[in-house]
Amino acid sequence: MSYSVLIFLPVLLATSQIIPKTKQGFSLNLIDPLSPVSPFFNPNLTDTERFNRILKSDRGRLRYLTSLNVGASNISIDPTEIRLGLSSHDLSYMVMMGIGTGAAFQNYYLHLDTGSSLTWIQCEPCHPCFQQQPPLFDPLNSPTYVSLMANHPYCQGPDYGPGPHNVCYFSMFYADRTSADGILSSETFTFPSSQGGNIQVPNVVFGCTHLTDTVYPLGGPVGIFGLGLERESFISQPSCAPVTGLRFSYCLVEPGSNIPMSLRFGDDITWPPVARVQQTKILRFSTGPIHYYVNLTEMSLDDTRIYFPPGTFDRDPSGRGGFVVDSGCHFTYLPQLAYRIVRNALVLRFQARHLMPPVPGRGEAEELDLCYDLPPNVDPQILLPSMTFHFAGADLPLFYEQVFHVDMHEQQFCLAMLPETDVRAPGVLGAFQQVNTQFEFDTCNGGTLRMATVDCAHGV
Ligand SMILES: *[C@@H]1O[C@H](CO)[C@@H](O)[C@H](O)[C@H]1NC(C)=O
Ligand SMILES: *[C@@H]1O[C@H](CO)[C@@H](O)[C@H](O)[C@H]1NC(C)=O
Ligand SMILES: *[C@@H]1O[C@H](CO)[C@@H](O)[C@H](O)[C@H]1NC(C)=O
Repeated sequence: MSYSVLIFLPVLLATSQIIPKTKQGFSLNLIDPLSPVSPFFNPNLTDTERFNRILKSDRGRLRYLTSLNVGASNISIDPTEIRLGLSSHDLSYMVMMGIGTGAAFQNYYLHLDTGSSLTWIQCEPCHPCFQQQPPLFDPLNSPTYVSLMANHPYCQGPDYGPGPHNVCYFSMFYADRTSADGILSSETFTFPSSQGGNIQVPNVVFGCTHLTDTVYPLGGPVGIFGLGLERESFISQPSCAPVTGLRFSYCLVEPGSNIPMSLRFGDDITWPPVARVQQTKILRFSTGPIHYYVNLTEMSLDDTRIYFPPGTFDRDPSGRGGFVVDSGCHFTYLPQLAYRIVRNALVLRFQARHLMPPVPGRGEAEELDLCYDLPPNVDPQILLPSMTFHFAGADLPLFYEQVFHVDMHEQQFCLAMLPETDVRAPGVLGAFQQVNTQFEFDTCNGGTLRMATVDCAHGV
């Protein structure tokens, strides 16, 4: 008995979540689609057009997150209004990686998605597929390509099943009733490190899509880099663990700037010595898909607590609500009730400072909800409060610039958070509010989210 335990223990250790002892990691350039240095930046859009696209993209993303929350089958969406799937990533951050070896090798831009797990691209032959550049990946030309069999441990669950020749097929349905179908595969991925050099990772499991009715504009990223919490995620795969340590980190700069950012893995994750790193548990649920849910308990305006009814940010047993950290959303979205409480606290605070009543948003901010005229000759830094999100075990302080959209041209500022009216949707900490905080998503031991205020433009 003890003999077999001794034999199996190393096997168990090898497949469970172990941080490798050797110092290894890598960093990818993290590309902001709103940055002028993004290869997909559209200089023709006006600021207002760009802003409206952000809000439209957020609405699509929220529906995607809602469908994750309560099951896609229950969400009905007019496909002409928003296409989910790849286009729900319209404005999410991107990374570039090389896929395959030999003649098939190709660098591709993919959307980073912490809300889904399977990395996928389109592969030859592909009927029907959306048009893309560069050409489709051709598995036949890559000596390292392997199609995985139906008995592969990842070939389980509603999205996977046996296909012809007993190969593992996946079929991902999106809430707009489009789908992507293909073969679960493994391949060598090459990551061009932003620190210089390349890092090659063999046997990365990904989806080779051979059929999709997802519509996507030509010239954008061609697939998804899944960093969700399920086992087929790049961050969960044991074959990637030697270089990822099962953790990744980013530190976002102001959207639309041309300051470089990195998506870091494993031992490439460092913290400035002065950073006060705090951590909160990533919440896991026995039912439903997994995302980076955290336990938001309270908020503060400067040093004054804002109290919410208990459970305001909890996910209920039927999967409604909750609170996720999601860089695929630009702004932060609060459940309607919580939003009203925060809004009232702000209105009272500005009343006490004799600010005129709220005005409709002007210019690009016309769809934001709570806006004020900036009094002449007042420094926004003195007028505008900071805000803190209190998570169980970790405080996330936000400087006023991460709370308000300040438009000096329009002499106006608006709360850069919005209410979410669909009670099924989770609340979301979006990218705008994540700026100048370094986050580390550590999926070891059930999951931990670490965070610290960092000047991301000059920090790590
Ligand atoms: C921007 O406009 C120019 C001139 O009309 C056009 O040639 C170019 O394709 C446009 N760029 C994009 C990304 O739409
Ligand atoms: C789906 O919708 C039905 C009918 O509206 C409802 O009874 C059920 O609870 C919903 N399921 C989920 C997971 O929200
Ligand atoms: C969230 O944190 C609060 C305070 O620490 C705790 O009482 C509550 O049970 C936690 N909720 C969840 C879902 O873990």
